[in-house]
Amino acid sequence: MKQNLKKTFTSYWKYLALQTACKKDIFDLILSGKKTINELAKFGNFNKTVLSDLMSALEQAETLQIIENKIFLTEKGEVLTENNPNSLKYACIHWGEETMTAWQNLDYTLITGKQAFNHIYKKTFFDYLAEDKSKLENYHKAMNEYARDDYENICEKYDFSIHESIMDIGGSLGALINVISKNNPNLKCYLFDLPEVIELIKKHNYKIIKGNFFENIPKVSETLIMSRIIHDWNDKKAIIILQNAYKSLPKNGTLYLIENLTDKIENKAALLSLNMHLITESYERTLSEYKILLEKANFKFVEYKKINELQHLIIFIKL
Ligand SMILES: C[S@@+](CC[C@H](N)C(=O)[O-])C[C@H]1O[C@@H](n2cnc3c(N)ncnc32)[C@H](O)[C@@H]1O
Repeated sequence: MKQNLKKTFTSYWKYLALQTACKKDIFDLILSGKKTINELAKFGNFNKTVLSDLMSALEQAETLQIIENKIFLTEKGEVLTENNPNSLKYACIHWGEETMTAWQNLDYTLITGKQAFNHIYKKTFFDYLAEDKSKLENYHKAMNEYARDDYENICEKYDFSIHESIMDIGGSLGALINVISKNNPNLKCYLFDLPEVIELIKKHNYKIIKGNFFENIPKVSETLIMSRIIHDWNDKKAIIILQNAYKSLPKNGTLYLIENLTDKIENKAALLSLNMHLITESYERTLSEYKILLEKANFKFVEYKKINELQHLIIFIKL
């Protein structure tokens, strides 16, 4: 038991070794042919002794193998390279940056109930991202890597072809709407997000719309979907977004939420919820908390469905 506890204290070392290798493109360099410590150290301007220990730590993490002084990526290591179709490079980088600094200030959030992020960086998370294009891009690449995996089978769990159109509100780089659009060729698909995010989208098979959901959601679609949106906001702000969704939809229009329902997940998503307290103005809610919130914006609850290990699709209609 004590041994386990001690391992937990330093478990972040393993993660930060991986995160640093991703940040410094070390997995990409190995893939591109830099196969020895000397070649890597020269190319990346790294300290050879430290690099050698880092390589051993990455070998322990089963991301690479060192055979006769040559370094080879394992399947796990390949997933941490930039162009791998299943890449998790930016998801890996994400958690070791500002989020980790916020976690180091959990005591501030514990005492005040306020976001450590805003306390440290003097602005809200989304305002902070908007001011730095490379941070914004890295965050959305990380979100996209999670979303690509989380939503890949969503159309097997739910039939969106019952609708004529659907708009993904706060759709980031489009992982969700892309899957819905590919599986439902007759469905008109739209993605709505902040202008600076829309500008990051390169290729798309859906219409893109720039805007701010606190101001207005355009009336272009009879169905809206919001994934991991409402959990970013406190009740007061969430209701403003939901009222704008209400105004955007026709009568009987459907609003889908995708969220982590804490009462439907075994460990109550407690760590995820703490993360929300630290970074955003919110926390992960229960199904009944979502029902109460949505009723305040005149939506009627229809049903909910589990779509993956963590998330549920929660279905409401506009009265
Ligand atoms: C937690 S991310 C969720 C992204 C994506 N839906 C997913 O499930 O991975 C929140 C999204 O809301 C967008 N967003 C934040 N504030 C917004 C606003 N005022 N208007 C429109 N979109 C906003 C962000 O740009 C981001 O794409």
